[in-house]
Amino acid sequence: MQTLDSLKQRFGSSDDRIRFEAGEGGLTRVVLKTPRSEGHVYLHGAHVTHFAKAGEKPVLFMSKQSLFKPDKAIRGGVPICFPWFGPRAGHPESPMHGFARTSEWDVESASAEGDRTTLVLSLRSSPETLKLWPHEFAARYTVTVADTLTMALEVANTGQGELNFEEALHTYFTVSNAKDITIEGLAGVDYIDKTDSLAVKTQGGKPMKIAEETDRIYLPTTSANTVRDPGLRRRIVNTKQNSDTTVIWNPWSAKAKAMADFGDDEWLNMVCIETCNVNKHAVTLAAGRSHTMTATVSTQPL
Ligand code: BG6
Repeated sequence: MQTLDSLKQRFGSSDDRIRFEAGEGGLTRVVLKTPRSEGHVYLHGAHVTHFAKAGEKPVLFMSKQSLFKPDKAIRGGVPICFPWFGPRAGHPESPMHGFARTSEWDVESASAEGDRTTLVLSLRSSPETLKLWPHEFAARYTVTVADTLTMALEVANTGQGELNFEEALHTYFTVSNAKDITIEGLAGVDYIDKTDSLAVKTQGGKPMKIAEETDRIYLPTTSANTVRDPGLRRRIVNTKQNSDTTVIWNPWSAKAKAMADFGDDEWLNMVCIETCNVNKHAVTLAAGRSHTMTATVSTQPL
């Protein structure tokens, strides 16, 4: 059994770059420091809630209304959606975006070396997950805090048959004003518009603007995305590997008001750029095979 005390004992207090502590709601949080940056990860959902370079504004948006409860997803940061994305097809009773974001992940290792500090978490199929989804798997999530934030989600098929799953690193970025930013890297890509009865449309050539409720699955695309934020005078660059789809989400005002764990005006200060493999690009793995999807986030001055 992994308790805060046992984790503190296991990792000691010898390294002040890795600290296990009671976070919001008493949930276990890991603080990862480097000489020039800091990141926070909750074991609940393997949820990265914070990344910032020293002296800079946080890169990740966190809702002030977020719940921190074992059975609820944290609102903001980087939820992990797995093994399905959105509502599970044919299973209205199943939790939205899968169970990974509300599961307690185990600590495999934590280490600090040079200018990077790394946490490795794992989640394996168990009697509880098998009730929700009858497949055996072993997931490993490696979070590396450096001058950049890198998140790598590895999923191995530990069962006998084929494994089919969706996955997303549902990253919420902090922006000065969602109406003022542009997002590059999607020109000419087709998308499914979830706000317009799943109509398939094509992104124009200009950098994308958020001007209404936006909920789009871009596919296929392996490109990096850049958020240009004139208010914060910075660019956020999200690059990815082994991810064939990108989701862009901003709930806009009406939907924000309807969400219990999200402030009425918080939609102005966030945009989700989700590194994912969803829809037609779900991952299929033969028995014994594994797949790793990676997102790397960096910031630069405008
Ligand atoms: C996005 C989906 O990824 O997540 C949206 O495309 C959804 O449809 C949003 O509303 C938030 O989901 P949740 O379950 O965290 O409220």
